[in-house]
Amino acid sequence: MGNDQAGVKSEFVHTVFADIADRYDVMNSVLSFNQHKLWRRFAMRKMQLREGDHCLDVATGTGDWAIAMAKTVGRGGEVLGLDFCQEMLDVAEPKLQKLGIDGFTSLLHGNAMAMPFPDDTYDVATIGFALRNVPDVLQVIKEMTRVVKPGSMVVSLELSKPDFKPFRTLYYFYFYRILPVIGRMAVGKDAPYRWLPESLRTFPDRHQLARLFVEAGLERVVSYPLTFGICALHIGYKPVRSA
Ligand SMILES: C[S@@+](CC[C@H](N)C(=O)[O-])C[C@H]1O[C@@H](n2cnc3c(N)ncnc32)[C@H](O)[C@@H]1O
Repeated sequence: MGNDQAGVKSEFVHTVFADIADRYDVMNSVLSFNQHKLWRRFAMRKMQLREGDHCLDVATGTGDWAIAMAKTVGRGGEVLGLDFCQEMLDVAEPKLQKLGIDGFTSLLHGNAMAMPFPDDTYDVATIGFALRNVPDVLQVIKEMTRVVKPGSMVVSLELSKPDFKPFRTLYYFYFYRILPVIGRMAVGKDAPYRWLPESLRTFPDRHQLARLFVEAGLERVVSYPLTFGICALHIGYKPVRSA
């Protein structure tokens, strides 16, 4: 994607999320039949964070993954949620305060394509349901790889394309035909929930995304299909440099 196209996509995505920020959490639960909560729990189990870990949640949106990590790492740890849409962060902020985790969980306005952090900083970097939205998937995975410490994890939880064709056909009927209609009725706008299925069309499938993790320099890459492959969890580790 050229610079101009990347800018257009970023601007469009920004408007989409600014427009739906106040309904994002409810719509997530409605449209995924609450599955996203199970997927997030599965991801947390696989990550096995430790108390005291320093975590970065890229494209944190309304902060759900950042919150889950904060509850696990506790006051001795630190969680930072980065997002380029202030409206989404404005929904996240009161949630952190209400839970009393704002002392060690913070939010930062910034772009996933060029993150304002030094190399080798975090114990884990996560990105949830956002790689579809960035102009250059590989660039974001490379950035996440850059900012985690050697030996640490880069993790993506993202919608995906089911492998099993009969199920895929059925699911695509819901995803491409029904979901945009429900979305439009619920938020009174067309663009956001037309974009959701559209964003999957050109996105890599689970196997291709695993290859991008490897291309970004990660090793021991594993991927897990969730709910018959509607969603996928990818985990890769930054190599430990030899002395
Ligand atoms: C579908 S929401 C996911 C939010 C959250 N991670 C979750 O799991 O619910 C996608 C988020 O990605 C953010 N986003 C998209 N492109 C971005 C970029 N280039 N840099 C930072 N944030 C970005 C949007 O602002 C939005 O908050």
